[in-house]
Amino acid sequence: MIFVLRRKDPPKTLTVAREKEESKKENPDLIYTFEIPYTGREVHITHREVFGGRDLLRFEGIGFSNILKRFDDGTLRYLVNEWSVDRKEKEVISLILSDIMRFQEYYYDDLVAGKLEGVIERIVRNHGIEMEFKFNKDKIMYYVIRDTLGFGLIHPLIYDPHITDIDVKGTDFVRVKVREFAGRWIDTNVRFPSEVALRQFISRIASLYGRGISEATPMVSFVYRSLEKRIRFRVAASLGGVKSDQTTVQVRKFPVKPFLFNDLIKLGTLSPEAAASIWLLVDLKGKIAFSGPVGTGKTTLLNAALAMFDPRKKLVTIEDIEELALDFKGNSWVPYYARGGEFYEIVKFALRITPDLLILAEVLGRELGDVIASQTGHGLAFTIHANTIEEFQMRVRTLLRMYYGENASEELIDLVMRNLWTIIFMNIREDRRILEQMYMVDPESGEFYKIYDYPVNFDLDNFLEQVSVRTNRGIEELGREFLDRVKFIEDHMDDELEDLYPALVDWYNSR
Ligand SMILES: Nc1ncnc2c1ncn2[C@@H]1O[C@H](COP(=O)(O)OP(=O)(O)O)[C@@H](O)[C@H]1O
Ligand SMILES: [Mg+2]
Repeated sequence: MIFVLRRKDPPKTLTVAREKEESKKENPDLIYTFEIPYTGREVHITHREVFGGRDLLRFEGIGFSNILKRFDDGTLRYLVNEWSVDRKEKEVISLILSDIMRFQEYYYDDLVAGKLEGVIERIVRNHGIEMEFKFNKDKIMYYVIRDTLGFGLIHPLIYDPHITDIDVKGTDFVRVKVREFAGRWIDTNVRFPSEVALRQFISRIASLYGRGISEATPMVSFVYRSLEKRIRFRVAASLGGVKSDQTTVQVRKFPVKPFLFNDLIKLGTLSPEAAASIWLLVDLKGKIAFSGPVGTGKTTLLNAALAMFDPRKKLVTIEDIEELALDFKGNSWVPYYARGGEFYEIVKFALRITPDLLILAEVLGRELGDVIASQTGHGLAFTIHANTIEEFQMRVRTLLRMYYGENASEELIDLVMRNLWTIIFMNIREDRRILEQMYMVDPESGEFYKIYDYPVNFDLDNFLEQVSVRTNRGIEELGREFLDRVKFIEDHMDDELEDLYPALVDWYNSR
């Protein structure tokens, strides 16, 4: 598989890949698909076209091509090829960059207003290098943007919509995760040349977003949103200690558009029935845990379920990082962001403002007891790291003990477990994120009923029976509610959010 950003015009200079020789060995006629950032357009090309280098397109000032290669032995490697620059071009670029740095304050307003081109033209005029600039304008602009407002050496990785995570460790490596190959770190050919360069890079991007980083405060994290809101990601960086840990940068990207149930069904993550059951549970104000290892799609599935939650009701979410994307719900969504010690305070506050459904993205500790044990009648969903039902029980126990200490009696633990309706386990299998298991908790006995085990069919009877016990509603009525939801999901399999959401509002209003 290959993703490449191509030039629209025949480029004046082009280097494709030092890897050219290597690539010839691969099938030259394979068709590859890739997406152009910003446009959502897809381009199909053959391997030969890519490596033949005939028509690499330039796209909106992005002067790089990204190639994901799979070698015969199955290993993947992600290769970034940026425009090559000769010595003269390099000089022009560093001249412009050093002027921008030196006269930062003077140029600042223009820079933040996105008038970089004007700034560069002024610098170029001052130095009398108009000709050199004119003939290589695209290329020079690319590098200047990359190293002033952009993301330096990892810029091409940031703009690849297929990449979900970037991990930089000192000068050792820059590796990525690509959507299609979930859970696997893939090495890239990008390397920071020195610790100094890496640190300069971190302080530059931190300062761009109003944050400082220094030996005194060696960690920084911020969420970046592009102007077009087409990309959104969190950057977390930490400086290495005097002799211990290395300097690291982690980037976690959030999807451009939130995944909906229909997207997740198409990706093979869950069936329409499983989706409808989660939807029914949130509407009935159930208490649901989304459990599983990191990066398995817990938050994503939760977000898709919340997208379906009755827009006439109050949804309150509490997160430490901005991950949930429900802006389209307007005022019915009340998001809070809190970290560390604040988290518990916000949870207590949120309980007082009477949410219909309360969401804790990432349960941290003592709030768990309060929200599950409380009988205030709100629904609840949260994500938690536990891979199996046993781990889940153990984790809940530990969290409760952290708060209640010795008072976390077996009775309390039991009460909390029995108050929970449903536990969903997410996992990754064969590079695919899946809903792996779903359990209903019997409120009286505290026993778990497995109602779904990937890829075996959903045990609808058992599900409805358990929901009926919780809600005192008849099984037939619940069955109808369930089927209505399956039908809605199936009728809107190809809808984008813009069509789906209004239809959903109508659906609720007509009931
Ligand atoms: N069902 C899915 N199929 C493909 N990619 C997914 C799916 N669910 C999530 N992702 C992507 O995987 C990454 C991790 O998802 P996330 O929901 O944050 O995981 P978790 O909350 O379990 O840590 C994100 O980049 C997300 O866009
Ligand atoms: Mg998560």
